[in-house]
Amino acid sequence: MQSIDSAIIQFSDVTFLRGDRKIFDGVNVAIPTGKVTAILGPSGTGKTTFLHLVGGLLRPQCGGIKSLGCEVPKLGHGALFRYRQRLGMLFQSGALFTDMNVYDNVAFPIRVHTKLPETFIHDIVLMKLEAVGLRGAHQLMPSELSGGMSRRVALARAIALDPEVMLYDEPFTGQDPISMGVLLKLIRALNDALRLTSVIVSHDVQEVLSIADYAYVLSDGQIIGAGTPDEILRHSSERVDQFIHGRPDGPVKFHYPAPTLTADFLREGQ
Ligand SMILES: Nc1ncnc2c1ncn2[C@@H]1O[C@H](COP(=O)(O)OP(=O)(O)OP(=O)(O)O)[C@@H](O)[C@H]1O
Ligand SMILES: [Mg+2]
Repeated sequence: MQSIDSAIIQFSDVTFLRGDRKIFDGVNVAIPTGKVTAILGPSGTGKTTFLHLVGGLLRPQCGGIKSLGCEVPKLGHGALFRYRQRLGMLFQSGALFTDMNVYDNVAFPIRVHTKLPETFIHDIVLMKLEAVGLRGAHQLMPSELSGGMSRRVALARAIALDPEVMLYDEPFTGQDPISMGVLLKLIRALNDALRLTSVIVSHDVQEVLSIADYAYVLSDGQIIGAGTPDEILRHSSERVDQFIHGRPDGPVKFHYPAPTLTADFLREGQ
């Protein structure tokens, strides 16, 4: 676990319930400043929920969430709005506005949140598009972009307001190996060039670990592993090992609990 001093986001004993279901049960996470941190875990384990807690879209029932110097669950409406301006978020779907061209998509958050003149906005938009390698595509409509290009435009839009922290929700879903490689390099390069802190939630284990400085593995409401990519890849826990190496059998069973086969098929006891 990182020391509290170097953490830009800190979860302390966070418990979060949906109805009676505990999604998080006393979770402690420290996201180190300036680094790329991966939050890994099987589908449905609470990775998106984790990002929504960071963004203040959800509040935990117990525990503290400190981020960028704010106690996030205690922020009022105005403070939460200002806090969110300091975060950039790449959503699971990418979600560009389909009726606006690439330029206007990237300009959108700048126009909403600032009163900058259009000449300034022009320069910022083209700079952000240059950073993702798509300055030449600024006049295209979203329907004219490939999946990988759309994701990069969404990324340019997410960094439009110079966030301090970038949150990525499954940034590689549906990407071919080349666009995945491009996105991986881009996430790492932007983190270092713009002095960001990046949090990537994903189940693309090997790919994310290739660029992460630190990783947490979430399962069944708890952190089951934490460490550098090397430490995670050589983790002694059977549950971490099964997930990281994608083994079909292990502590997490393929079969939902059921009566024995003989009981079901040979009508034992009839
Ligand atoms: N709005 C909601 N109401 C009730 N339960 C929800 C809601 N959103 C998510 N959940 C539940 O919370 C759990 C965690 O969901 P979450 O979306 O955070 O998982 P995830 O790890 O991001 O999954 P994936 O990898 O498939 O994106 C899931 O079991 C889901 O069923
Ligand atoms: Mg998710």
